[in-house]
Formats: sequence, structure tokens, C-alpha cells
Amino acid sequence: MSLADMKRFDVVMVRQNLVEIPSYPLPAGYRMRSHRQGDGATWVRIQRFSQPDRTFTEAKFDDVFGADLPALRRRGFFLVAPDGRDVGTITAWYDRNYRGKPWGRIHWLAIVPQHRGKRLSKSMMTVAMNRFRSLGHCRALLGTQPPRIAAIKTYLDFGFVPDMNVHGAARAWRLIREVLPHPALEGLSGRASLEPA
Ligand SMILES: CC(C)(COP(=O)(O)OP(=O)(O)OC[C@H]1O[C@@H](n2cnc3c(N)ncnc32)[C@H](O)[C@@H]1OP(=O)(O)O)[C@@H](O)C(=O)NCCC(=O)NCCS
Repeated sequence: MSLADMKRFDVVMVRQNLVEIPSYPLPAGYRMRSHRQGDGATWVRIQRFSQPDRTFTEAKFDDVFGADLPALRRRGFFLVAPDGRDVGTITAWYDRNYRGKPWGRIHWLAIVPQHRGKRLSKSMMTVAMNRFRSLGHCRALLGTQPPRIAAIKTYLDFGFVPDMNVHGAARAWRLIREVLPHPALEGLSGRASLEPA
């Protein structure tokens, strides 16, 4: 199986603490704003233009956030381009119980193609990770898929490591490492990253 074939396979990455969060200021002209009531359509539009398959419907917003819409005011963010358009989104969401603990969850990071390649996802991660801290979280996780190499590079640079306890993780991370040599993936084995090193 190739990396491209794994587009529906979920890998999990974890960061066991929220100390020393990398700080990437936004480039001049860009800014972040918080989610406001009625921004569901904004979120769907950005996801539709950002995801490889453009089949993103309004219903997806409710699927993802419908259980706790009020939390989006504190946890949802948009990236605003110098021309005032909303061109990216990230959510500092939460997971009440993953392996018996509460976590912050980086959720649905996306930037429309025209604004990629400027490390903007790193600036967005700085905002979301600091929001976790201000909301009282102690650790963070996220789910992604192996072909999303730009996202995985960003997450590794932010100190996330693979959760090797997920079924199929060893094969997935072997394939990822072939195209993404990264210090955090050196020596990766079946060792469970959720266990103390
Ligand atoms: C993920 C996403 C937001 C990243 O956008 P971005 O910030 O513009 O990302 P960049 O193009 O700057 O790439 C991030 C890093 O990955 C690296 N990278 C990108 N593609 C790569 C590849 N094929 N191989 C190796 N490295 C790669 C870049 O060089 C960059 O590294 P650097 O920070 O050291 O320069 C954007 O690609 C996106 O919206 N993708 C679709 C949605 C998605 O996959 N979201 C993630 C859901 S989990």
C-alpha cells in the first residue's frame, strides 16, 4: 500500500504537555480572528476549497461542532488575509476522554491553496496551542491522515509525536517517514509514545 492509498486511514499524534509552545508570529498583513455566530458557512467554504475532494457540505459543520456550538466562540479561529478575506481556519477543540484523560484537540486545520507555502499553519498552531493553555488544558492530540504531509510536518515541528498504539500505526509512519525525514521520527518503532520514555 502506498501513502496515497492511506487517505482514509487515521493516525493520531499527541503532545503530552503544553510547555514551550513554538512562537511563529503572523506575516505582515495577516491576522487571526475568533469564530462568530453565523461563521459556519465561512468554515464550510474554507474547508471546501482546502480539502482534496471538494465535496464538503453544510451538514459537515453540524456533524463536527453541533454538539457544542457555544464553545466555538472561544475555540474556533479564522486566518484573515491582507485583503480582508477569511482564508484559513483552526479549532482548539477538546476531547473529554482519550485513553482515560481529557485533551485539547487540534481540529480541522486548513488554508486555501492560494495562501499556502508561507508557514501560516505554524502561526495558526501557535494561536491554537496557546488557547489550550489559557483554557486550562494540559496536553493535546489530533487526528490526521498519512498523505497530509504538510500538516504532519507542522505538527511534528510543534512537538506532537505519533501515538503508536493506534492499529496500523507502524506501517503508516514507516510510509510517512520515507517522504518526510524528521528528527522526531528517527528511531520510531512500535514503542507506545503514550507511555513514559
Ligand atoms: C495543512 C496546511 C494547512 C498547511 O499549509 P501551510 O502552512 O501553507 O504549509 P506549508 O506549505 O508551509 O508546509 C508546511 C511544512 O511542510 C513542508 N512540506 C510540505 N509539503 C511537503 C512534502 N511533500 N514533503 C516534505 N515536506 C513538505 C513544508 O516545506 C513546510 O515545512 P517548513 O515549515 O519547514 O518550511 C495546508 O496544506 C492545507 O490546508 N491542506 C489541506 C487540509 C489539511 O490537510 N489539513 C490538515 C488536516 S489534519
